[in-house]
Amino acid sequence: MKTLLITGGAGFIGSNFIRYLLDNSDYSVINYDLLTYSGNLDNLSNIQGDKRYTFVNGDICDRNKLNNIFHSNKIDGIINFAAESHVDRSILDSQPFVHSNINGVVTLMDVARQFGIARFLQISTDEVYGSAAEDQTFTEDSNLIPNSPYSASKAAADLMVRSYVQTHHFPGIITRSSNNFGPYQYPEKFIPLIINNALEGKKIPIYGDGSNIRDWIFVEDNCRGIFEVFEKGKIGDIYNIAANNERTNLEIVHLILKLMNKSTDLIEFVKDRPAHDKRYSINAEKVKSEIGWFVERNFEESLEFTIHWYMENKKWLESITKKTKFTDYYKTQYGLA
Ligand code: NAD
Ligand code: DAU
Repeated sequence: MKTLLITGGAGFIGSNFIRYLLDNSDYSVINYDLLTYSGNLDNLSNIQGDKRYTFVNGDICDRNKLNNIFHSNKIDGIINFAAESHVDRSILDSQPFVHSNINGVVTLMDVARQFGIARFLQISTDEVYGSAAEDQTFTEDSNLIPNSPYSASKAAADLMVRSYVQTHHFPGIITRSSNNFGPYQYPEKFIPLIINNALEGKKIPIYGDGSNIRDWIFVEDNCRGIFEVFEKGKIGDIYNIAANNERTNLEIVHLILKLMNKSTDLIEFVKDRPAHDKRYSINAEKVKSEIGWFVERNFEESLEFTIHWYMENKKWLESITKKTKFTDYYKTQYGLA
């Protein structure tokens, strides 16, 4: 039986990916995660006890702990989801982003090299290309022009992966996906924040005038793409993953409030995010033509499914809210207090 080391598997995309992997492959999984504020073992409660799943608590910067895992297990590949992932937090303090998103990736690659790992997939983001003009769509060859400390740290990691492929023949591959949504997303991110605030009758902060555009993909579609790229992708290559589903933030909030039968009076326009990227737009033709990946899930249906999931998992939301008080953080940051 083959074993994958999944780093950052207790977060939003990582936990959805582990569930996908256990349901759709024969791989065993070691989930290595630091359990930062966004890492939550409850995200994986339905697979606890699965013989193919093991959890290890640790930092991807901790070389000794990683060495121990490699000494005691035969690892056939690594998929790295571990990261600080929220743009607003990177504006407040970029240090944790340098630690996990840059130093962490380099440490992980160094250990992987030492043990002769066969495949290493780095989970990156469309944000590394920066903001797209109205008539622009980025391909894997486009320039990297990140605007936030978060996206700059992810771009730095991508360049380190590239340099290891060139210099050390390291078996690195990169995926860059657009904005994900779905179950288990930490509710500081836009879609679960809208749902959570609407459920609690709280105001929904819209940065600036709400005209910024994001390209939304259901997390399960991205997880399938990641798995297929891990299996079939070419070493050294980069694959954009997106659903061609661009929406303004205002469109998203109106759609969710309509589906939840809530009033648009909840919308509150607040101070804009500094260096707020106007639009993300990536071309995903390469992953379609070379890997054979296509979007399967309809956007409106998966959004409705997601809303119901949060409504049925209020305990999950409550436990997270208690743990981190993320709403207070936004109140002070964006002048809502
Ligand atoms: P998340 O914040 O929900 O999860 C991140 C996970 O990484 C958490 O479980 C956390 O505990 C863990 N982690 C953080 N630092 C660590 C460290 N030093 N060592 C070990 N574990 C650590 O993030 P997410 O939204 O699931 O994103 C996962 C990855 O996908 C990230 O690399 C992110 O940049 C990328 N990405 C996210 C999106 C999106 O829309 N969410 C889109 C494109 C790319
Ligand atoms: O594009 C991929 C990226 O998508 C990932 O790499 C990041 O990890 C992920 O966090 C996400 O970044 P964004 O900044 O696009 O996502 P966020 O959910 O923070 O915001 C989405 C849009 O909504 C953005 O234009 C800012 C806006 N927004 C967000 C919040 C949290 C608001 O207007 N109000 C809010 O309260």
